[in-house]
Amino acid sequence: MSVDETGRPLIDFASEGRLNGPDVVPYHADPASYSTAIVGGTHYDSRTSEQRPLLGRSRSRMDSHSDTEYQGNHFDDPEFSSLIQAAEQAIDVGILPERIYQGSSGSYFVKDKEGKKIGVFKPKDEEPYGHLNPKWTKWCHKICCPCCFGRNCLIPNQGYLSEAGASLVDQKLGLNIVPKTKVVRLASETFNYTAFDRAKARSKKFATERFPDTLGKHVKAGLPPKLGSFQTFVDGFKDAEFHLRKFEVESLPAITNKDFLIQFQKLVCLDYIIRNTDRGNDNWLIKYERTPEVDRQVAGEEGGDWDYVDPPKIFVAAIDNGLAFPFKHPDSWRAYPFYWAWLTQAKEPFMDEISDFVLPQIADMNFVQDLTEDLYLLFREDKGFDKSLFERQMSVLRGQILNLTQALRDKKSPLQLVQMPVVTVERKKIESGDRLRSHSHAFTQSFQHRPPFFSWC
Ligand SMILES: Nc1ncnc2c1ncn2[C@@H]1O[C@H](COP(=O)(O)OP(=O)(O)OP(=O)(O)O)[C@@H](O)[C@H]1O
Ligand SMILES: [Mg+2]
Repeated sequence: MSVDETGRPLIDFASEGRLNGPDVVPYHADPASYSTAIVGGTHYDSRTSEQRPLLGRSRSRMDSHSDTEYQGNHFDDPEFSSLIQAAEQAIDVGILPERIYQGSSGSYFVKDKEGKKIGVFKPKDEEPYGHLNPKWTKWCHKICCPCCFGRNCLIPNQGYLSEAGASLVDQKLGLNIVPKTKVVRLASETFNYTAFDRAKARSKKFATERFPDTLGKHVKAGLPPKLGSFQTFVDGFKDAEFHLRKFEVESLPAITNKDFLIQFQKLVCLDYIIRNTDRGNDNWLIKYERTPEVDRQVAGEEGGDWDYVDPPKIFVAAIDNGLAFPFKHPDSWRAYPFYWAWLTQAKEPFMDEISDFVLPQIADMNFVQDLTEDLYLLFREDKGFDKSLFERQMSVLRGQILNLTQALRDKKSPLQLVQMPVVTVERKKIESGDRLRSHSHAFTQSFQHRPPFFSWC
């Protein structure tokens, strides 16, 4: 097997997958450009799945809406549909979404009719790059220091897609640590609208009330619905930072600790695959449920005999995934490290539970191909979608998957994972030239020659 300059074997996706066969482009190391190697290939007929029509999908871009044709929210997920219905019904009766003041952009807690929080909505036009971002600090930052504003490895103003994309990856891998997130449209008085939008809504309301049988039948009154990400609200969770500090002084019972490690490593897998650039310890949550009977008396003064009582339960939720899916790896001066890499838990090698579960999926190239196709279907609906940038996003994602595959095989720790040289796996179409117009894809692996991203920035 060939090795790279650090002595690490170059990995062949296809050798483990179902794609080996006459169409697979053989893997080879290219001595001229050293860090480049074709790692596998897929065979496609002339209509790739990307070109197949999407059943039941509107061909219009997600954020195009006219005044009269409001497209409702439709999901093939009854549970999520009823959640959105509950949010719309609450808004109709005046229980309006409430701005989350601590956030850096316009994010809102959405409630049901009883006033219970059921979701977090982040409209696209109120993101840091959105023209209606309600935060003055972000606006000043953008105007006064444009060169430092935002992350130059991310596509601007697509945070809502990144949120939904993270949930898609989570569901596809079966990790279940991201509260379900989808792209929805919602309208509410409490969102940030231009004065023009508000004036237009007022005049439409007046007109539809005045002429209910004519205009009123055709014009959708009210403020225009905003496109954004809607994430299910998770109850009883607190910022990870809060619990991690407590766990430093009060160690967890072994069984709970193991459960925590499994979920922590799931978070690592997710973040690494989507190359999250914003995973501080305030952007993931922990719920720690002490069993009521477990107090000092029952468990014994010195830390407790956990054999006789139900151990506390622990749950991890990965929220705020809006700054992921970069189209290039962050460079060394703005490295956007994964902050979990400094935790003691990051020194533990990947557990069998994780490698047995995750490895078979990500080592299968068909799975990776399916995943990128699903992301394509999601991302392409944005008005600013750019196919070549998307391909670059997927090259980073495939490279991350390649490294993670190797790390899981070698039973590395998350800390060792983030120290691996970063790689991109680019997909290129190869025309076969025969009369059937079929083509295959070659995958080219390139290492980025820069120091590992262990700098604070
Ligand atoms: N799905 C959720 N369930 C429960 N609470 C949530 C959820 N999403 C966010 N929160 C709460 O809202 C706070 C802000 O959320 P989030 O970090 O996603 O917003 P933001 O506007 O992107 O903020 P920032 O960019 O400053 O990190 C979180 O710290 C958390 O307390
Ligand atoms: Mg946050």
